[in-house]
Amino acid sequence: MRVFTGIQPSGDLHIGNFFGSIKPMIEEQDKNEVFAFIANYHAMTTVNDGEKLKHLTMQAATDFLALGIDPQRSTFWVQSDVKEVLELYWVLSSFTPTGLLERAHSYKDKTARGFTTNHSLFSYPVLMAADILLFSPDIVPVGKDQIQHVEIARDIAIKFNNAYGDVLKIPQYRVDENVATVPGTDGQKMSKSYGNTINIFGEEKQQQKTIKKIVTQNVPMEEPKEYEGCNVYNIAKLFLADKERIALEQRYKQGGEGHGHFKLYLSEVIWEYYAPYRQKREYYARHQDEVRDILHAGAVKAREAAGDIIEKVRSLTGILY
Ligand code: ADP
Ligand code: TRP
Repeated sequence: MRVFTGIQPSGDLHIGNFFGSIKPMIEEQDKNEVFAFIANYHAMTTVNDGEKLKHLTMQAATDFLALGIDPQRSTFWVQSDVKEVLELYWVLSSFTPTGLLERAHSYKDKTARGFTTNHSLFSYPVLMAADILLFSPDIVPVGKDQIQHVEIARDIAIKFNNAYGDVLKIPQYRVDENVATVPGTDGQKMSKSYGNTINIFGEEKQQQKTIKKIVTQNVPMEEPKEYEGCNVYNIAKLFLADKERIALEQRYKQGGEGHGHFKLYLSEVIWEYYAPYRQKREYYARHQDEVRDILHAGAVKAREAAGDIIEKVRSLTGILY
């Protein structure tokens, strides 16, 4: 089964991203054929600085390799290395009613909030449809916010197929209800936009400082504490095996320790958990040429996989080639 995902290169990754999307994607590699790419063209809708976009793209590649995307088993590339996607994007534009795009939440939200919008934001879902339809995946795992985009891709594919026959595979999305929503330092959903994140690859001192800021209840040191609903515990349990988690629950229940102690423990747990990933990341950070080579090789594999669809599309639509 082919599982397909796109990643916006949007800067420092946090542990919400890790448990919500990265870890499931890495584990997917044991079960299925994974296609994962860095959506740098999509990032242009918000990043208008060439150096910055280049940096963010390489950072995303470095981070994902460090966190376990395996270029031997999976196909991992940068969107802009497979130009066919832009060709399909244009072809699909002719099968995209503008009303469909006007109804897209992400576009509607931005216009409603008075942002000046541009065409790339408007046509974002068409490019995303091209990403997906070029590779005929079986499943596109998404967060809830991306469901509508996959539905738009389905609508576009159906319109194309109505005109030219059964060429594009109608994509299916999958929302994993079992994946935890990771709370941030303030107890709300962890998100860059709320400024409540704990980064995967932060500096140690900075990370300790962030963890110290986690909002907790004020209970005297000697008294027992409630772990259910405690932000420190809720984050810690994501990293702990059953035995360690039960030991932590005991420490809460028996009293004699404050939340400061649990925060210190959480800092250590997180730091240790990511140690092997950090080592790999340092390696790739020192070998950026190797990262670029991996991406190029991934693009060769991706173009091969896309060849069949793009050739059919060109031939059916009458594009000379
Ligand atoms: P942010 O909210 O920080 O901007 P993104 O929207 O870039 O994060 O999310 C990238 C991926 O990480 C998405 O698949 C999203 O579902 C997942 N994700 C982000 N925050 C969390 C969280 N707090 N808990 C679980 N998954 C999350
Ligand atoms: N829009 C997706 C996001 O913001 C990223 C993305 C681009 C994507 N193309 C895709 C996701 C294709 C899945 C399939 O997260």
